[in-house]
Amino acid sequence: MEGFPLVRMRRLRRSPQIRKMLDLPLPGPEKFLWPVFVIPGRRKRVPIDAMPGQDRLSRDELLRDLEGVARMGVGGILIFGVPGDEGKDPAGSGAFRADGVVQKTCREVKKNFPDLIVATDVCLCAYTDHGHCGPLAPGGDVDNDRALDLLAKTAVSHAESEADWVAPSAMMDGQVQAIRRALDARGFTQTLLMSYSTKFASAMYGPFREAEDSAPGAGDRKGYQASYGDLNQALRESRLDEGEGADILMVKPSLFYLDIIARLRDRTLLPLAAYNVSGEYSMLHAAAQRGWGDLTGMVRESVTALARAGTDIFISYWAKNYHTYFGGAA
Ligand code: PBG
Ligand code: ZN
Repeated sequence: MEGFPLVRMRRLRRSPQIRKMLDLPLPGPEKFLWPVFVIPGRRKRVPIDAMPGQDRLSRDELLRDLEGVARMGVGGILIFGVPGDEGKDPAGSGAFRADGVVQKTCREVKKNFPDLIVATDVCLCAYTDHGHCGPLAPGGDVDNDRALDLLAKTAVSHAESEADWVAPSAMMDGQVQAIRRALDARGFTQTLLMSYSTKFASAMYGPFREAEDSAPGAGDRKGYQASYGDLNQALRESRLDEGEGADILMVKPSLFYLDIIARLRDRTLLPLAAYNVSGEYSMLHAAAQRGWGDLTGMVRESVTALARAGTDIFISYWAKNYHTYFGGAA
């Protein structure tokens, strides 16, 4: 005999102890990468308006913040460079300067925090004067094959600066293969490649583009980032990157894409990262500021949803204050 009154589901959630026994645990801090925006100079801390609690930091200020972050046991950081206008040209060549802001940051962070994982975003959009993720062909389209060489150079320069992981986000065809080959040819066989494998052309990147000053000057990124309406294409993107030698796959954004995360989880044996993007962070802050939701409750619920869908690695701005959101009792 099935069902009520023999079966009472409420027995399984009667007490906090029972719920804790049965629930998926919240992911520990070691599962998180904190994305950071690094600017040239010293003693600079520029708040990002649309992202309360997050700043653009000069390297010395980043090291200061990392003391608390490392003490909490956060797994690592994902570095974005903000070079400023003087660092931009049509090809984005500032991205692979040996003395660029990302390169210097990698070395300093590894020296001071050898146990933190240092991952770098590999893209050109913060370094191109037109704001696209690769150089432009005469017609104005992004030149895929010319971008590959520039992205590979960028990844190699990060590895030379002691980055542990490189994370290409430009959504150029063949970028994973080009980067893996370039790394291996220079002996960086141990540099891990985390591909932004299924990255959608999303309206949720707005606050990030403000922080990075990387919005395209003209047009949008729909010609290279995946279209959110096409499920099979989204799955193929990750499968192709796996074939090209990615070590870790990623879905980005995350909260509107739990179906993609769950399906990829069933289709790959690779670790799966979810990028809990800027717009997802700002959205919860904005609701909480207006009194429309409890921030800690919303953060825990959304991150649990990512874990339940099959996320292994959480790339999230919440990591900076891990204890505030995930430390206390449920
Ligand atoms: C650039 C890049 C973007 C993000 C990470 N790398 C923005 C974009 O593609 O326009 C978004 C991250 C976020 O919104 O938090 N290639
Ligand atoms: Zn880009």
